[in-house]
Order: sequence, then structure tokens, then C-alpha cells
Amino acid sequence: MFENLKPQPADKILALMQMYREDPRDQKIDLGVGVYKNAEGVTPVMRAVKAAEKRIWEEQDSKAYTGLAGDPAFADAMIGLILGSAVPRANIAAVATPGGTGACRQAFEMIRMANASARVFVSNPTWPNHLSILNYLGIETVQYRYFDSETRGVDFDGMIADLKTAEPGDVVLLHGCCHNPTGANLNMVQWQEVVNIINAQGLVAMIDIAYQGFGDGLEEDAQATRLVASSVSRCLIAASCSKNFGVYRERTGLLMAISDKAEETALSQGTLAFLNRQNYSFPPDHGARVVTTILNDDALRADWATELEEVRLSMLGLRQQLADELQRLSGSDRFGFVAQHRGMFSRLGAAPELVEQLRNEHGIYMVGDSRLNIAGLNANTVPILAQAIVDVGV
Ligand code: LMR
Repeated sequence: MFENLKPQPADKILALMQMYREDPRDQKIDLGVGVYKNAEGVTPVMRAVKAAEKRIWEEQDSKAYTGLAGDPAFADAMIGLILGSAVPRANIAAVATPGGTGACRQAFEMIRMANASARVFVSNPTWPNHLSILNYLGIETVQYRYFDSETRGVDFDGMIADLKTAEPGDVVLLHGCCHNPTGANLNMVQWQEVVNIINAQGLVAMIDIAYQGFGDGLEEDAQATRLVASSVSRCLIAASCSKNFGVYRERTGLLMAISDKAEETALSQGTLAFLNRQNYSFPPDHGARVVTTILNDDALRADWATELEEVRLSMLGLRQQLADELQRLSGSDRFGFVAQHRGMFSRLGAAPELVEQLRNEHGIYMVGDSRLNIAGLNANTVPILAQAIVDVGV
């Protein structure tokens, strides 16, 4: 029977990771997969994570199963981090998931169970795995305009016009902060307008928040998610701890389903536990326990927030350095958007041939749509990248 299998398309981000590894050149720069790297090119284990792991190692006396929803303390801690007090706890169903991808997958499955004809509106572009999972599940997707390739900012008029075509019950998938892959984000006035459309048209909001703390700060990056969650009657939130806690391989995430009707919240909680059981039974616990330990301990939490802030500021510094260098070398302001974008990524707006040329001739790896991972740079590689961008004629 296995002969009936068809080759599956490679995920373009993961394929690029592999190509980079196989490139024998010494002079190469990896700006592909969204993993934070410090100036030495290392993805460090955060100090608070190490300390929490040590504490867990010393104190944990059982590895018996948690619950299907994971440890409730993890959900509480994450809800506090993301939503603050924006939504009453009783309105929130939540389950731990294997990373943000697991949260998205469970959210999409729940959408399909709740309304088999719901369409999911996704930004053009969005994280490729959103589309891949939605297609795999047979859920219809509709792209709404998002990125303005002229300004490299948000095409807000286009976005609004496209969202207005959504029907009641359709889902609007939004990036809570640090849009992936573009780095271009809505301001709060624009978020309010999106909320108005969601409410006026009876849509369901879904937020993917994977980079809280990487954009303008931990609180600032949660503002839009809090606004949406507190203003709409139903909302799904898929959250990842991979980046802001640096626990990528531990697969740590949370899915929330929010409703202002108590009976719906109970149904959602039961459905999410059921979906966990069908897919993997109990969600991974180690990363979740590390995160809970950090968030519930004042000293660890403060140290984590400090280190995260250092990461954020280092990325902002690299953005500014790159924008300045590009300005100097090109003699034009057209790359100013690099300093305006937020989060790990910026979409350069370069044609695929130029992305390929950067890879072949300069050993610079970015995703084919010209998304570059700012955190893959350091003070020494910024000038190399800027020169290459100008040389190939972006
Ligand atoms: C990315 O967008 O590069 C990250 O979210 C990693 C991934 O799984 O694609």
C-alpha cells in the first residue's frame, strides 16, 4: 500500500534550512528559519529556562500524565501573559499544545467541527504552514490583501475591502504582532477597524501570536490580541512559547477558545480535550512546566523579561543598522521600511530571481518570498548583506 503514497511538497522554510546546512562555503549567512541567534550565531538557552529546568529536575518527583488539557497552571500563566485581565477567565477554554503549530492545527480542526462550511481568511502572505495545514484539512481559504509591495507596509484599504467580502461564520486569521513573513503590522486604530468588521459581519476572529516580546515589548505586543479578545463574542488564540522562551524543540504552545457564553466555553473545553486525545493524548509537559515555573516566580520572570528585552533591542539595533547601511550604499531612503518593521522578519520585496542570486552568488539564504530573519544577522554581517542587496539590484 505504501506505493500509493505521493511525494509531498517540501515546506519551503525547512527545505531552505537543509540547503544552508549542505552549502560547503565558509562565507554564508542564514536568514531563513525563524530562530533567534545571538551575535555569535548561537541560539542560547535563556538563563531563566536553565534555572527553571534545574529547579524542576530537583523537585519533580513524578512523570505521570497531566490532564488532556495539560497542566491548568500553564494555561493560567499563559492567559495572564497574553491577555492580562482583558477577558474573564471563565470565558476561556484552553489546552496546552505541541508548540504554536499544534495550537493552529487544533484550532483549525475545531473550526471544521463547529462549522464545516466556514472559510478561513488569511493574509496575503501568511506563514506558509497556515495554508498547508488548512489545505490538508480540506478547509477553504480566502486570501485578503495585506502587504503593499510598493511601501512594504500594510495595504490596509485592500485588507478592509477583502474582509468585507467575508460571510457570517467565516474565520479571520490575524497575526497578533510581528507579522510573519512581512514584519509589517497594523496600528491600534486599524485593529479597531478590523474588530468593527468582525462584529458587524458576524465573523470569528483567530489570532496567531508567536512573537510576543519581539516587537515593541511584552505588553505592547499583546495589546491587539487583548483588544480583539475583549471586543468580539468568539475568538481563537494560538500561542507559541518557542521564540519568546527559546524553547523551540520542547514544543510548547497554548490554544484558547474564548466565548461570552458559558455553555459555549464548556463545549469548547471538552472539544479541545477530545482533539488532544485523538491526536496525541497528553500534550508535552516539559516546556510548559518550564514556562509556568518562570511566569510564576517573580525573580525568574524578571530575569526572563530582561533577557527577552535584550533580544528585542538587539534585533531593533540590527534593523536600524541595516536600514542605515542600505541608505548609505544605495543613496536612497527606499529601505527605510526595514527599521519600521517589527519582529524577527522583514519582507524585502525582492523578486525570486534576486533571492536566488543572493543565495548563489553571496551565500545569503532568505526565504524565496524575500523574507529575511533579522536575528540571523550580526554587526559584521549587516554590511555584507547590505552590499549584496545593492549589488544584485533589489
Ligand atoms: C518560521 O516561520 O520560520 C518559524 O515559525 C519556524 C517554522 O516552523 O516555520
